[in-house]
Amino acid sequence: MKKAIVIGASSGIGKGIALELLNKNYKIAISARRKERLDKIKSLNPDNVIVKVFDSSTEKNDSLLYELVKNLGGLDLLIYSSGIGILNKKLDYQIEKKVNNLNVSGFTQVVDWGFNYFLKQKHGHIVNISSIASEIGNGIAPSYNASKAYQANYLQGLRFKAIRKKIPIHLTDVRPGFVDTEILQGNKDNLFWVATVEKACSQIMKGIESKKNVLYITKRWKIISVLIKILPERILSRFF
Ligand SMILES: NC(=O)c1ccc[n+]([C@@H]2O[C@H](COP(=O)([O-])OP(=O)(O)OC[C@H]3O[C@@H](n4cnc5c(N)ncnc54)[C@H](OP(=O)(O)O)[C@@H]3O)[C@@H](O)[C@H]2O)c1
Repeated sequence: MKKAIVIGASSGIGKGIALELLNKNYKIAISARRKERLDKIKSLNPDNVIVKVFDSSTEKNDSLLYELVKNLGGLDLLIYSSGIGILNKKLDYQIEKKVNNLNVSGFTQVVDWGFNYFLKQKHGHIVNISSIASEIGNGIAPSYNASKAYQANYLQGLRFKAIRKKIPIHLTDVRPGFVDTEILQGNKDNLFWVATVEKACSQIMKGIESKKNVLYITKRWKIISVLIKILPERILSRFF
């Protein structure tokens, strides 16, 4: 039985991936801060779900991962889906710091731990949910887009490292556009191409299984990626 950890599994994309993994007969360990949400997932398949309530913006992700891998009895797949985005029109540093603590520091600690674990094991797969936001700046939530750019770039760096070491550690960077989760804060109707969690996670699962490097979710967001690269900033600044 394959073993996976999903950090940020209490809602949205992380929860959707956790459910996909259970359907694929994985044994999973799930983590986030909201215990009752995690327990609900466990109640669906108690023998194959381990729950750990944890705040990944702390600097203790190493101990979290160590404990989860020990309880799972191994690890094949590590998924980081924890993330926050806060509108910050006034550029309040405390808000930027909060975003960075989770999206940059927590992320780095988790993927570094996973990479080193998989290096010793000589195989493994790390998946991070970054965003299409990783490809462009944002005037009202600068730390969100910048943190996603960091994640995308960091994962590529680790991919290069794995290739140089000739060790089959796969690193998948998932770049969703809009997915109907709590992070949209009820703004769904003002947005476009909003995918359901089920559709997004089904595409993510297929991408994980085929060990893709970069995944656009849904696939049509690749068009936005191309536009971001060719349009002048004068036009882009109206939207971001
Ligand atoms: N939905 C979209 O349109 C979209 C688009 C592009 C990228 N993404 C990315 O997808 C990822 C998942 O977001 P989502 O859309 O699924 O939104 P979500 O439903 O709000 O999920 C966010 C997850 O992060 C966890 N989390 C937040 N703060 C945490 C902390 N301090 N420690 C540990 N876990 C924490 C939440 O759990 P707790 O609150 O229980 O801790 C929750 O499980 C994020 O990285 C987001 O940036 C989403």
